[in-house]
Amino acid sequence: MRRPKISVIGAGNIGGECARSIAMKELGDVVLLDIPDKEGVAKGKALDLACCGPIERFDAHLVGTSNYADIAGSDVVVVTAGLPRKPGMSRDDLVDVNAKIVKSVSENIKKYAPNAIVIVVSNPLDAMVYVAWKTTGFPTNRIIGQAGALDVARFRAFLAMELGCSIEDITALLLGGHGDDMVPIPRLTSVHGIPIGELLPAEKIAAAVERAKVGGGEIVKLMGTSAWYAPSAGTVQMVEAIIRDKKRIIPSAAYCENEFGVAPNQPGKGLFVGVPAILGAKGVEKVVEIKLLPDEKKLMDESISHVRDLVAVVKTKHPEMA
Ligand code: NAI
Ligand code: 2OP
Repeated sequence: MRRPKISVIGAGNIGGECARSIAMKELGDVVLLDIPDKEGVAKGKALDLACCGPIERFDAHLVGTSNYADIAGSDVVVVTAGLPRKPGMSRDDLVDVNAKIVKSVSENIKKYAPNAIVIVVSNPLDAMVYVAWKTTGFPTNRIIGQAGALDVARFRAFLAMELGCSIEDITALLLGGHGDDMVPIPRLTSVHGIPIGELLPAEKIAAAVERAKVGGGEIVKLMGTSAWYAPSAGTVQMVEAIIRDKKRIIPSAAYCENEFGVAPNQPGKGLFVGVPAILGAKGVEKVVEIKLLPDEKKLMDESISHVRDLVAVVKTKHPEMA
């Protein structure tokens, strides 16, 4: 039986960690690709990881390369190529430089892996998913952005720290774009079914919401570059849901038109925003819509409008994507 093939574009911090985790979970064979100048890094990381196999007891074939022909036949392609944030930068500051990178990467995915499901990680996330969609022309179920898996994990982690309970028991919902205006929904957050409001005072919940929103920036300030362990864990959770056809609900940047009122009755004019999505073998198999309360809807609308503004910047610079 053929093993699934997962290609990771960008062999930097997130790309390398994604490759490690994919191999450790035996989700498939891995191709780690970077630009020709960094081919040595891609090859070196692939080789180093291959040598973990005997210790960690995984069977996976790992290849490092700068040659896109090597991604042919990929089931999933993860796009981590692009610049990360530095202290003082917002994700949005990366839009110009990373749109060019994600466009060129997407052209190669279209050419060499036309049947792949694409998971975009590069920032600013929601706009980069749009670039990948417009450039590949792939159906919307095969283009997904990773952000919500990370952002909701941060929210859960901060709640568990506050409560001193196991993170395993916390389930939470988070919507919106991957910006500081993301929308955690405390009303639908619980600890083993117990609403969070029963366990924590409102100000502690508000503090966890706030910390989740700026959690990426908190780490950038500490390390001088952006996080990679949790972003990779979120990404590989999505890869696993797809490869193993798990039908998991994972908050993902998925294409929405009527859903959540993104672009009602405007076919083709939708956006990729963070929503609960069922991920399985076909990629995004369904966007799960929920009824929001008026204050939640207002926050969601603001977040969607931020994503729309970012996509407008892309369209101005790249009219072919309008
Ligand atoms: P990094 O700098 O460690 O790695 C990026 C890699 O992309 C580098 O090795 C670089 O050579 C490569 N690259 C650049 N242009 C390329 C091209 N045209 N083709 C192939 N590879 C190319 O950065 P890191 O930390 O891995 O972050 C990657 C991206 O992910 C950044 O844009 C960052 O902002 C974003 N990010 C997204 C998160 C999310 O949750 N969606 C969370 C954290 C970061
Ligand atoms: C993060 O949230 C910067 O998007 C990156 O860590």
